[in-house]
Amino acid sequence: MQVTSIGHAGFHIQTKAGSILCDPWVNPAYFASWFPFPDNSELDWAALGNCDYLYVSHLHKDHFDPATLSKYVNKDATVLLPDYPVPDLQRELEALGFHKFFETEDSVKHRVGDLDIMIIALRAPADGPIGDSGLVVSDGETTCFNMNDARPVDMDVLHEQFGTIDIHLLQYSGAIWYPMVYDIPRRTKSNFGKQKRQRGMDRARSYIEQIGATWVVPSAGPPVFLDDDLRYLNDDRGDEGNIFPDQIVFLEQMRLHGQDNGLLMIPGSTADLRGAEVSVTHPSDPMEIFDNKAAYIEEMAKRRAPELAAEKATWAPAEGEPLLEPLKALFEPLMAQTDLICDGIGYPVGLVLGNETVVLDFPKRVVREPIEGEGKYRYGFRIAPELVRTVLRDNEPDWVNSIFLSTRFEAWRVGGYNEFLYTFFKCLSDERIAYADGWFAETHDDSASTELDGWEVQRRCPHLKADLSKFGVVEGSTLTCNLHGWQWDLESGRCKTSRGHELRARKL
Ligand code: FES
Repeated sequence: MQVTSIGHAGFHIQTKAGSILCDPWVNPAYFASWFPFPDNSELDWAALGNCDYLYVSHLHKDHFDPATLSKYVNKDATVLLPDYPVPDLQRELEALGFHKFFETEDSVKHRVGDLDIMIIALRAPADGPIGDSGLVVSDGETTCFNMNDARPVDMDVLHEQFGTIDIHLLQYSGAIWYPMVYDIPRRTKSNFGKQKRQRGMDRARSYIEQIGATWVVPSAGPPVFLDDDLRYLNDDRGDEGNIFPDQIVFLEQMRLHGQDNGLLMIPGSTADLRGAEVSVTHPSDPMEIFDNKAAYIEEMAKRRAPELAAEKATWAPAEGEPLLEPLKALFEPLMAQTDLICDGIGYPVGLVLGNETVVLDFPKRVVREPIEGEGKYRYGFRIAPELVRTVLRDNEPDWVNSIFLSTRFEAWRVGGYNEFLYTFFKCLSDERIAYADGWFAETHDDSASTELDGWEVQRRCPHLKADLSKFGVVEGSTLTCNLHGWQWDLESGRCKTSRGHELRARKL
């Protein structure tokens, strides 16, 4: 098996039984905030696109790049489709001309031609744009687990179905807007950033341990930010509060913890595998990039400036009719469909859009103007009106997959993270909101227990059911679940990270 990095989460997997192209991403994503790092635009995309199978792990725009898929990828390729609750991914691929779909069943091993394939589909509203996935592929000699940025909770199925994993490709770096966009003091922000950076890498190491692959490739990020306004987000000046550490930083973390099996890959690097044996070749010395990172980014920014400008030229104008009515038309019918999510949000949310402020009054299920004297909203966003006009014009069903991941906004909140709020913003269609409402309505099984440092706690995390015997870490009377870094006070069971989500715990 030959695994070639094609940048970010993208890989080309060549086997004797055919080739699989995974998550090809080249064009800037999220309002042209994110570019692949290192640059992959010079790869031979026509050759890469001539594949037998296509795997798009999910619809986030650094994984699903319609322009690249449309221009380069063989439309007769068989799409290996994750088992998602909403059909958006299939619809988007059909619209681009793909017509052969192999519909997998979640966590079930399938025989496709002469390959064994399994896709682990994560289906909680919090997983990607309602759906994120990882692909396992075996040609009988070598097994590759492309986990990209998915966060599977059950690793046993992987070992039961495939035994030893030879190569494991996974995300370790940040891919979020927290804490950078928040209106909090600089020092606090930097401390939150440090925690976030470390937790992301701890989580990746925990997966590496649990999966126990022979070789590990840090991938699926970080992106690079080339717009002048966003360049401060790049980890190129030794800032420990930066949430976007690169491959070199993570490989060093692995080594510090005795994990010597990391492989560095850049776009065009190939790993030739025969079971556990590997040989890696690079298109050029990778350290030329990482040792001179700031200069590399500067040069890349100049080279790709025309794409950034072209992308910005497609945005809707900032000026126009007031946004209250279109936002009312969009949000109110969705609010009416989900008491659970509206009550979970629990407060009016302020949207400051240039000179106009629009209030999403979730308790009352209405979108309205501010009421004099109502003060600062508990949750709020300051967003450039051109971005909001663009997502409205494009009928974008997911503001996370457009505005929020762009980091081109500011936010504030009183108290912890509100999962219901961001879920609402990624469910801007009838199908999605109905699914999320139903998902929250299901009661989670918390009957099993596990023991952690003198505490008996429920085994499954109240957030997304991670196995706390593997992901739970106790310090004093605080439990941290390393899957997403949420925390609980063990004395009271109260979730310190988000509203609701109580945990059952008792001191032994
Ligand atoms: S599953 Fe998300 S924090 Fe535990």
